[in-house]
Amino acid sequence: MYFREYLIKLEESGLVTKITKEVSIDVEAAAVLKAAEPTPLLFQNVKGYADFRVAGNMFGTKQSIADYFGISTAQLIPKLTEAIDNRSLPEEISDPPCQEVTMDGVDLDKLPILKHNERDGGRYISSAVVVTKDPEFGQNLDFHRAMQFEKNRMSTRIIKGRDFYKFLERSGEVEAAYCVGNTPNILVAAATSVKTGINELEIANALSKTEVTQAKTLDLLIPAGSEVVLEGRVFMKDRSEEGPFIDLTETYDVVREEPVFEVKTITHRKNPIWQALVPGALEHKVLMGMPREPTIYKSVNEAGVNCIDVNVNPGGSSWLHAIVKIDKQNEDDGKKAIHAAFAGHRSCKHVFVVDKDIDIYNPLEVEWSMATRFQAERDLVDIGKEPGSSLDPSAEPGTKITNKIGFDFTAPLVTKGKSFARAEFPKVDLKDYLE
Ligand SMILES: Cc1cc2nc3c(=O)[nH]c(=O)nc-3n(C[C@H](O)[C@H](O)[C@H](O)COP(=O)(O)O)c2cc1C
Repeated sequence: MYFREYLIKLEESGLVTKITKEVSIDVEAAAVLKAAEPTPLLFQNVKGYADFRVAGNMFGTKQSIADYFGISTAQLIPKLTEAIDNRSLPEEISDPPCQEVTMDGVDLDKLPILKHNERDGGRYISSAVVVTKDPEFGQNLDFHRAMQFEKNRMSTRIIKGRDFYKFLERSGEVEAAYCVGNTPNILVAAATSVKTGINELEIANALSKTEVTQAKTLDLLIPAGSEVVLEGRVFMKDRSEEGPFIDLTETYDVVREEPVFEVKTITHRKNPIWQALVPGALEHKVLMGMPREPTIYKSVNEAGVNCIDVNVNPGGSSWLHAIVKIDKQNEDDGKKAIHAAFAGHRSCKHVFVVDKDIDIYNPLEVEWSMATRFQAERDLVDIGKEPGSSLDPSAEPGTKITNKIGFDFTAPLVTKGKSFARAEFPKVDLKDYLE
């Protein structure tokens, strides 16, 4: 199902709040979305943009993503693992919704691109999935924020090591389609980091049926149901200032000289809906962290430890922390799981391993397991200094070097003193005692 049709379905179920009051894209819309999260909002009266509506907070919880796939949150890790391992070709269609209208010339001011925060360097596209192609590796799908600085040019953040960065290094300039207004099959697939050469649109199709179409002016297959598509070229050497911008950690990222995206053509659906994504907010976090959970889960199981679940939790900026739940069978399972989790997510800084009785979505329970089961001298694993995440303000600037630590919060298998089990309080039905 396309973004538009899914939004209508949510509306019909009363799950979208419609905002009829006039709202400005200049900081106001983002502020309203942040205040309302995780409730999806549809702005129907966007100041200066009568032709557009703006939707945001669409997928700000794991539950909302699981709902799109019609599964439980517990099934997300197996579903994503299965889709990565068993990719399938999307269907190619002609006359796609995303090309119902081709804009006359390119003027980015005509799009309701949000400025999210006062100090931001400009208006930013933050929800676009970016389709690119390399003569050897074929197509790739990523996320890359893009800041407008002219009517047809944006500077776009491309972190070194990303597939897109590799393509740019090889070719100098690369055709790119920035596609706005997509559903979780495409968004989650774009956020996975798989081997260069794997087309994430095939992961999207394995997650749920995905239609693609030929871009209007580029030799690229793009998601056919996108609301708005910006087609153009990105240049390695032509650079422009990008930032400041609030990133995943809710801190300001520095200003850098980043590659320029020159927009040549804009197409969109009739009565377009702009998909907003508030940087640093829950939706950004869910989309970043969730695709790392299967890689950690797989790595821990491959290390011979029975991993039950993984939460790359919002408290850790959905990137720097991983909480790993295991069914402990051997005394060294906790430590093995720590090493394996770091191997499964290289940007992670702190790993917490807990027993199967702990709810890893409840920070109080995780802390309780630390308080009652952890002894630093015995259970702390200091990995030492390694490259971590460029997003972490405490990592060494430039090199990303960080001190990685693992915490084994699992109880010893043999109890010598007090029991490690949480005691049960007697249960009553309170209704019986209240008038
Ligand atoms: C909402 C969102 C925004 C992102 N923004 C950027 C970005 O601006 N630049 C970047 O290099 N990566 C960004 N990322 C991360 C990458 O796009 C993502 O990790 C992707 O998997 C990298 O794919 P690759 O392994 O094919 O290079 C973003 C991810 C999400 C979910």
